[in-house]
Amino acid sequence: MVKFPEKLSKKIALRSKAKMLRKLPETGKSVDFFSNDYLGFSKMPELAESTKALLHDLKENDNGATGSRLLSGNHALYGLLENELTTFHNCEAALVFNSGYDANLGFFSSVPQRGDIVLFDEFVHASIRDGIRMGNAKSYKFIHNDIDSLIEVLKRARKSAFHETEVYVVTESVFSMDGDSPDISALVKCCEANNCRLVVDEAHAVGVFGDAGEGLVQQSRSQAKVFARIITFGKALGSHGAAVLGSKELIDYLVNFARSFIYTTGLPPHTVATVLAAYRLLCGDLGAGFRKRLQERIAFFGKERDRLGLQGIFVTSTSAIQSAIIPGTIAVKQVAGAMGDAGIDVMPILAPTVPQGWERLRFCLHAYNSETEIAKALLLLSEFKNAV
Ligand SMILES: Cc1ncc(COP(=O)(O)O)c(C=O)c1O
Repeated sequence: MVKFPEKLSKKIALRSKAKMLRKLPETGKSVDFFSNDYLGFSKMPELAESTKALLHDLKENDNGATGSRLLSGNHALYGLLENELTTFHNCEAALVFNSGYDANLGFFSSVPQRGDIVLFDEFVHASIRDGIRMGNAKSYKFIHNDIDSLIEVLKRARKSAFHETEVYVVTESVFSMDGDSPDISALVKCCEANNCRLVVDEAHAVGVFGDAGEGLVQQSRSQAKVFARIITFGKALGSHGAAVLGSKELIDYLVNFARSFIYTTGLPPHTVATVLAAYRLLCGDLGAGFRKRLQERIAFFGKERDRLGLQGIFVTSTSAIQSAIIPGTIAVKQVAGAMGDAGIDVMPILAPTVPQGWERLRFCLHAYNSETEIAKALLLLSEFKNAV
């Protein structure tokens, strides 16, 4: 066996010593409070059946895309999905990427140019940060969900700007680790007033918010004023992949310059068909029923949390993500371990994913979590948090 580099072994040892070493978890044993499958689509037989029917109707039997979408991989399902996304999300055009990570990497590394400025919420997802880091624009963070801070940072950043500088403001409509949301209408106004382009990652809002699960940008009727949206299919849609929504010109640009789009094999037809079928399900009665159930479960979680006097440790959130702050790697891991032993799968989120001191148990709620399961999870939390 070739010897592993010593400096890398040291990095692992350091993480291990700090009790921050990541390990692949065993899954599927207990009650699911940790997956992003908010509506239960990933395991829904109706979705599997309609995907099969769709592939059958289209006489599509291929197992793989066979190449980049710019070469042999642009199978017919892509066009069908992108057309439906454009209608459903009320935008001019859509471009499907292989994942949300790829979409953010491709967008942020290619759209902001040298001399441009990117202002990002301090809690945006790693994929956005990585994309920005790969690009040539200057970037500055502003305080989480704080428009005054955004304006302050913008004023400072503009001092080094010249007349052609574009300013991009980046946020998430539901933050992945906190579950909270910015005031999108206020952000839109601020961006309009200051001539900035707003980009919103809607990964955790699609399927959960909006009349038919369109997300928070459409719920706040802001779609025409947002420069770009990033949506993902691996969360409430229960599948895999992502898309950038925006103008036709933006999509043409990404096809030409987003390297994470160009230099990779496309998604297999089956995956794209699953996403298409998932959107159709979302629009129908079944989807509406699951969305309503999810909202009821979120409300029940809030009531039970308050009844047990736990509201003080939770980040304020009306989404499917509810985070209980339990500072300290060891403490949060202990609580998560005890919950796991008691049959509740909930993820401890550690630094560096969140800032040190802000470690948390992140409860992801689902339409399929029963009230009994939610009550049990919160009761266990109230017992175990006092024991660490
Ligand atoms: C806000 C946000 N954006 C993007 C992504 C990446 O999406 P994907 O899992 O499709 O790569 C995630 C995934 O966790 C996310 O939470």
